[in-house]
Amino acid sequence: MSLTLDPLFSIAGQNIFVAGGAGGLGWPIAQELSKRGANVAIGDLDSTKAAACAETLSNNGGQALAIGLNVTQRASCEAACQHVAKSWGRLDGLVNASGIYRVGPALNFNDQDWQNSIDINLTGSFQLARAAGALMVPQKSGSIITITSVSSSVANPNYAAYAASKAGAAHVTRVLALEWAAAGVRVNAIGPAVTPTPLAAQIIDDPATRSNALAKIPMQRFGTPDDLLAAVVFLLAPGAQFLTGQILYVDGGRTIS
Ligand SMILES: NC(=O)c1ccc[n+]([C@@H]2O[C@H](COP(=O)([O-])OP(=O)(O)OC[C@H]3O[C@@H](n4cnc5c(N)ncnc54)[C@H](O)[C@@H]3O)[C@@H](O)[C@H]2O)c1
Repeated sequence: MSLTLDPLFSIAGQNIFVAGGAGGLGWPIAQELSKRGANVAIGDLDSTKAAACAETLSNNGGQALAIGLNVTQRASCEAACQHVAKSWGRLDGLVNASGIYRVGPALNFNDQDWQNSIDINLTGSFQLARAAGALMVPQKSGSIITITSVSSSVANPNYAAYAASKAGAAHVTRVLALEWAAAGVRVNAIGPAVTPTPLAAQIIDDPATRSNALAKIPMQRFGTPDDLLAAVVFLLAPGAQFLTGQILYVDGGRTIS
């Protein structure tokens, strides 16, 4: 059956905003959504990269937009979501794949790293979801996905800031799901395990950190961006219409070990 016709999994014609869409996870996600016939807006702090990504999608026959975005700014989140809705008539989906990773021992953890982790990963994901929800609640439909992390659930030494931001983002997911359930707006999260991207380079590139991280994954490999694609498509698609408030860990068993 065609990727665009399956009634359970089709996202063809949906208008979807991928925040952090120029990043290591966001870009493969954006490409998959576009391949499946969605109109895809790429939002990123790196607006040059976002423009290049949108151009690639357009060159491959997709409908695409590039939007400069700073999730720490409420006005930027609102302007970005409104830009998508004005351009294409409505906003059907948000995938928030923006974020940063800062780790270090708590006793000398850098204050600015703490603040940036909270501002981008927690406050940013809330502000973006709120901006999308402001459009989706009145239209009585929509699907919001935040890429959280296994760190929403597990504790690792040195992870106070990252884990706090990701656990917070996961819990905000549940709260928003509850607030917007009656309006038909679904809010979920996907929690990946370590996946080689620019963000995870400091884990992957250091042999000791790498083998320590790998040893914690029961399936004995790191994730790949492709591992997340089916989960993202499913959560956006009609087949998931009764699924809300969930944190779906796509992690090779990391959160059960
Ligand atoms: N790669 C992993 O191992 C891994 C594992 C679990 C969870 N995650 C989460 O997945 C998400 C994406 O990670 P990634 O690996 O693709 O990282 P990445 O660094 O490759 O991409 C992140 C993207 O977010 C953008 N960004 C950063 N700050 C922003 C801001 N203030 N406003 C808008 N955009 C901003 C960056 O420009 C970049 O394009 C993050 O939330 C990360 O915590 C990643």
